[in-house]
Amino acid sequence: MSEKVRWRCPSNIALVKYWGKRENQIPCNASLSMTLQAAFTEVAITCLDKTQEGLEIEYFFDGKKNQPFETRILQYLMANRNSFPVTREHKIRFESTNSFPHSTGIASSASAFGAIALALLSASGKESDPDFLRQASYLARLGSGSACRSMFADYALWGSLADYTSSSDEYAVAIEHVHSDFSDMRDAILIVDDEAKKVSSSKGHGLMNGHPYAETRFIQANQHCRMMLDVLKSGDFDQFVSIIEREALALHAMMMTSGDYYLLMKPGTIHAIEEIMNFRKETNIPVCFTLDAGPNVHVIYPGKHENRVREFLIAALQPHLKDIIYDRIGSGPEKIMY
Ligand code: PMV
Repeated sequence: MSEKVRWRCPSNIALVKYWGKRENQIPCNASLSMTLQAAFTEVAITCLDKTQEGLEIEYFFDGKKNQPFETRILQYLMANRNSFPVTREHKIRFESTNSFPHSTGIASSASAFGAIALALLSASGKESDPDFLRQASYLARLGSGSACRSMFADYALWGSLADYTSSSDEYAVAIEHVHSDFSDMRDAILIVDDEAKKVSSSKGHGLMNGHPYAETRFIQANQHCRMMLDVLKSGDFDQFVSIIEREALALHAMMMTSGDYYLLMKPGTIHAIEEIMNFRKETNIPVCFTLDAGPNVHVIYPGKHENRVREFLIAALQPHLKDIIYDRIGSGPEKIMY
């Protein structure tokens, strides 16, 4: 048995949303995210002696064997085994934990596939490669698209944009030139409902095939990415708020208007959105909401308004919620030393 390698990878919240994909998790439009700090997955891998030919793994989540995830990882590794030489020589034991509870609307597959790709590449001796994080981003994407954006501190862009030469459909890149006003952003995650997802993201992406508004939506998202890159450079909070909220509602509009239409927002979601908009109007604090593929609301705001925003969330919204998880912009993945 060889020594363990352990990596921590954060989740991320999309400000411009990825919704719709082609084969091999190639996105139909570019997306842009803020990397989180408190919401992360840690994956430790131990290299064991093989007992049979072919791929051999065992997957533990929170100390317990997790068969569904083991099957998913096995499929992932079968498709990508050449990228992880360590899986040819060893049986791999994965031990994984999340810093956040299940079904909170925090993208656990993003942080999980991020940490798995990092740990496997690291155990395969790739850590000193100059493009280690790019390789990890590429391989994390093949597990869960949005995972590729978790590799970089602060903000990441995934998907090729004609006028942004470093951008790619195959991996995410860190966004450079960010105005200092956007360097300390917060994300308070309002848990409106903690039931498991009604409709998987994969099914949702699939419903963009043949969606009557798909082409317009992909153009809009690419435009929003370009606008957001300018906004992050200039420090324009009005535009920041407006793009983020438009994106959240556009994502849900796609779900509500697909062939197999569905609705993920709950009354508590709408209530929170209205309260946040009213609070912004009354205070002029640039606080805004975004949504992922679920009913929970991410509240995005600058750190300097933390006290005032927390007071508002606790007084106006907490009584109607299951929980609030306070997170912030993060510094990217980390190798955990024993
Ligand atoms: O990475 P996936 O396939 O779970 O898709 C994520 C989709 C959204 O979270 C709704 C948007 C995004 O860009 O993260």
